[in-house]
Amino acid sequence: MTREQRKLDHIRYALESGGVNRGTGLEDVRFLHNCLTPVDPDKVDISTRIGSLKLPVPVFIDAITGGAREVKEINRRLAAVARTAGVAMAVGSQYGALKEGHYADTYKVVREENPEGILFANVSALVSPEEAKAAVDMIAADALEIHLNVAQELIMPEGDKTFSRIPGNLSRLQDCVPVPVIIKETGCGMAAEQIWELQAVGFTCFNIAGCGGTSFAAIEAARGKTKRYEKFAEWGIPTAWSLIDAAHGLRPWDTLIASGGIRGGLDAARSIALGADAVAMSGNILAVLLQQGDEAAVSYLQDVIADLKDIMVLTGSRTVRELQQVPLIYTGDTLAFIQSRGYEPRFKRKR
Ligand SMILES: Cc1cc2nc3c(=O)[nH]c(=O)nc-3n(C[C@H](O)[C@H](O)[C@H](O)COP(=O)(O)O)c2cc1C
Repeated sequence: MTREQRKLDHIRYALESGGVNRGTGLEDVRFLHNCLTPVDPDKVDISTRIGSLKLPVPVFIDAITGGAREVKEINRRLAAVARTAGVAMAVGSQYGALKEGHYADTYKVVREENPEGILFANVSALVSPEEAKAAVDMIAADALEIHLNVAQELIMPEGDKTFSRIPGNLSRLQDCVPVPVIIKETGCGMAAEQIWELQAVGFTCFNIAGCGGTSFAAIEAARGKTKRYEKFAEWGIPTAWSLIDAAHGLRPWDTLIASGGIRGGLDAARSIALGADAVAMSGNILAVLLQQGDEAAVSYLQDVIADLKDIMVLTGSRTVRELQQVPLIYTGDTLAFIQSRGYEPRFKRKR
């Protein structure tokens, strides 16, 4: 199986296993309506920051693809959608282009299509500092994402299972480029204990990419026809739980990004109220793009942003920071999670 074939398989099986509601925990998070909101819709400011990078909109298209001839067009279309909707976008892992010099054009196309846009490079946690810098240079990226994907590598027959090398290598990567560095999961979430470890080696931007949306265990089990791994489809920390956990581990200057099964503006608003500075989507936006077309993908993102703004009005939040501080009601398993971790349900992220 070549790397190019694997890239195509990931898209195919992500679409086939998408739409399954695995539960992000966000369904257990409710707002208190503010019947005396002091916020007029035209006063809502949704701008945010990832480290030193300013984003006009706190929603972006997260890493999906690149690295095979057939996916260049998908990246071009995603970049055009991001440009029209005014959101940032990450490319998929640039590993093949960095190691073998293959298909760099399938990544560069996003910069050609969106010359003024905010774009994120994407590499594995085992690249060298020089390779990380080359990934940023390849697309003139505004930030670098480093992905953690233990579950995928474990299940994938050709996966790199030298997990013990990762922590040591990460300490070489956190300040190797002149743009913000985001450490991200890929659908299994992060707990506070790992956030602390990552902080200790210098990281300040965390994309928890929790469980409840795209499942690489499900994708790899389907690809490899390995039934044993199907039971890992729901492995991971649900997105809401991971956000709650991460928020307890954050320092005031850290950036928290929510992703993993984000379906719309209500999920985005709940994620921000749990402490996130920005919200990212991959599987759902890919499905809309490939199944309904480019215009549908643009209006999907526009609706996410419009719904988020409306919820800010309805909760009396002028800014992302104010939405982070609104009270929340927890029910179901998410309340049980908060209690079993010894957390206080009224806890709000320190700023
Ligand atoms: C087809 C596909 C390919 C992906 N490839 C990458 C990748 O190359 N690098 C990466 O960091 N994440 C990759 N991801 C993971 C996403 O960036 C994201 O973390 C994860 O899918 C959870 O978000 P979602 O539930 O909105 O899809 C990929 C996701 C999909 C659906």
